[in-house]
Amino acid sequence: MFGELEMVKALLDERKRVVVLTGAGVSAESGVPTFRGQDGLWKSFHTQDLARPDAFESRPELVWEFYNWRRQLVAECEPNPAHHALVELERQIPNFLLITQNVDGLHAKAGSKKLMEMHGSLWQVRCTKCTHAREAREPLPDMPECPVCGHLLRPGVVWFGEPLVAGVLKVAIDQIGRSDVFISIGTSNQVQPAASFYQLAKDHGAVTVEINLEPTPNTGLMDFAVHGKAGEILPELTTGLRESLS
Ligand code: NAD
Ligand code: APR
Repeated sequence: MFGELEMVKALLDERKRVVVLTGAGVSAESGVPTFRGQDGLWKSFHTQDLARPDAFESRPELVWEFYNWRRQLVAECEPNPAHHALVELERQIPNFLLITQNVDGLHAKAGSKKLMEMHGSLWQVRCTKCTHAREAREPLPDMPECPVCGHLLRPGVVWFGEPLVAGVLKVAIDQIGRSDVFISIGTSNQVQPAASFYQLAKDHGAVTVEINLEPTPNTGLMDFAVHGKAGEILPELTTGLRESLS
């Protein structure tokens, strides 16, 4: 009797177009806190209350303190077996795209190349006034200033109420609309537009798969759902894939 995971493995074929969507759960085993549930609290604040333009406008020092804390925490984290398995999947499937909601940079650190960071990156900053934007890996001061105009810099991430980075949604919609297999991993599916990507895939006839620690609002709508740790399930999915593809 084939388990769900074996059925998903059997679906993967090098001629297929595969799109993977990841969320905070994929980095949980690296020690990066997720956003919702107990982990989603920083001091007495809900993380989603700090990831907002109005919070930055009224208390920029608090929001920067939060982001500098996250930058420091993530700088010490390493990719886990889930990130590595996705690099392997990219190697095996020529037509592959990884879309992540994560801003931690761990997919890139693991070696993923066909990667779209749809919510930006903790390792980017940009000016709140002029067009200056740059990569910033080094520790930042409490209220970092723009080297060009002297105004306050902000984290290069997408906050609630802000549009996604230009062009990102178009590429995502285009690629998902042409996918044969869509796999959602480690996301609570509570934040749009990512939470609706599976529907787009389904509408275009793709097979949809969820891999998550626990059920989400989308679970019952997916063709396959595998529950457990991404760092254990994904290596199982990619082990021996090369042989089954050839
Ligand atoms: P949205 O559809 O995610 O949100 C619509 C409205 O619902 C907004 O007013 C938002 O504040 C609220 N909302 C949605 N999910 C919420 C939640 N879980 N908790 C509290 N409020 C919630 O659209 P948006 O707000 O315009 O977001 C645009 C994009 O920015 C989305 O893709 C989102 O995922 C992303 N985002 C990124 C970060 C980050 O830290 N990188 C933080 C927030 C949002
Ligand atoms: N393996 C698989 N899934 C896991 C693991 C794990 N080891 N650990 C946790 N999870 C699952 C949780 O069960 C949960 O469903 O990962 C999911 C994480 O959900 P959220 O914390 O809501 O993260 P995410 O879905 O990525 O949030 C989306 O919201 O705050 C914004 O912009 C932020 O990108 C973020 C977006």
